[in-house]
Amino acid sequence: MNAREQWGTRAGFILAAIGSAVGLGNIWRFPYVAYENGGGAFFLPYLFALLTAGIPLLIMEFTLGHKYRGSAPLSYARFTKKAEWIGWWQVAISFVIATYYAVIIAWAISYTFFAFNQSWGEDTGGFLMGEYLQRVDIVSGGAPGDFGSLVPGVLIPLIVVWIITLGVLFKGVKRGIEVANRIFIPLLVVMFLLIVIRAVTLEGALDGLNAFFRPDWAEIMSPGVWVAAYGQIFFSLSIAFAIMITYSSYLPKKADINNNAFITGFSNSSFELLAGIGVFAALGFMASASGTTVADVADAGIGLAFVVFPEIINTFPGFNGFFGVLFFGSLVLAGLSSLISIVETFISGLQDKFQISRAKAVAFGGGLSALISLLYATQGGLFFLDAADYFINQFGVALAGLVSVIAVAWFVKGLPTLQNHANGVSDFRTGAWWKVCLGVITPFVLGYMFIQNTVINLT
Ligand code: PHE
Ligand code: NA
Repeated sequence: MNAREQWGTRAGFILAAIGSAVGLGNIWRFPYVAYENGGGAFFLPYLFALLTAGIPLLIMEFTLGHKYRGSAPLSYARFTKKAEWIGWWQVAISFVIATYYAVIIAWAISYTFFAFNQSWGEDTGGFLMGEYLQRVDIVSGGAPGDFGSLVPGVLIPLIVVWIITLGVLFKGVKRGIEVANRIFIPLLVVMFLLIVIRAVTLEGALDGLNAFFRPDWAEIMSPGVWVAAYGQIFFSLSIAFAIMITYSSYLPKKADINNNAFITGFSNSSFELLAGIGVFAALGFMASASGTTVADVADAGIGLAFVVFPEIINTFPGFNGFFGVLFFGSLVLAGLSSLISIVETFISGLQDKFQISRAKAVAFGGGLSALISLLYATQGGLFFLDAADYFINQFGVALAGLVSVIAVAWFVKGLPTLQNHANGVSDFRTGAWWKVCLGVITPFVLGYMFIQNTVINLT
């Protein structure tokens, strides 16, 4: 077997890790999750989850990949044969996510073009997926649409998404993934800063920010809010998805694991906060323009990006096409850099397991997920997209994180080994707190909240 591929530079790895972390989860997911779970009060469980679970787990995954130099299943297997299944479970979750994540990016591409002249018209809820989204919302008991008919405007962008993603992955770690992120991430930061600056200077922006940050302290007693905070941290940092293990398996021997984890974690959360500010400032503007309240215009989930934002752009003062292109364009960039990382996890897993070349793994693994994603491109398929997203988030994300810490800390008793390795290569050494966070606090707090929340949901 050839030597394992490597990142060209430290910045290359960090940009790729941030590229994976910063995604649709930051831009459309975080703002409404925070808003629905206590507003300003959500930051307490959120910060708690970031500091006691998110960053410690990121250090753990970086260490696993760096020490054992394999895709997630191989790294876990080398750690202890008994743990290989955790890696495969995470790869499987990533596979499911990849199939629908690609479709959302495809919409964002279409919407980037529509934004030029607001071709979504006056009734943004009735335009393209707006209408379908209202029909398929699984939580409120929607029903599938027609499988025979494609959602208009999604097929060609979807093909483009897969050509870019698989093309980048085909090129490999240094010449593909690293180069792509070096272009996408700086561009994304500039575009997004422009949006936020414009948004906070709009009329009514303050009302939006007030609605977003107003703390609802009663909410933080509810287990559901804590599970939401952990779920957001895990999803947003791309941990427990096999990704960070895979990316760190391409690190050179000399690499500062602890520092890299803190940089990645804080960059992602800063971007999230920025997105919350930008989105709610814009919602505040829309509320004041239409004479309603922020609560009336805030909408959950995909509807926020694809129904409410077009509406905001419609009411925008001045040259509104530009703002729209920036907004949907940044969704595309953030989404693509995340999709690349998701697909890389199973490509890398296939390569290690079957000893096949990258090209074959891309063709087979990438090709299969591209094919499956076509299912969601039909009107009926959107029902499954909503279902997949719902179940992955309800049962996949927090649970996979919980299981992996319990397995590593309690069954394998592997925390000291991993900590020695990470501290040996890092400038900044973690102390006993790292083991306490992963071995005690995370399993108990997350486990308790998870059981409470499931029981409440079932009764
Ligand atoms: N972390 C990315 C986001 O915030 C999404 C993601 C999830 C990426 C799972 C990879 C795996 O959107
Ligand atoms: Na994120």
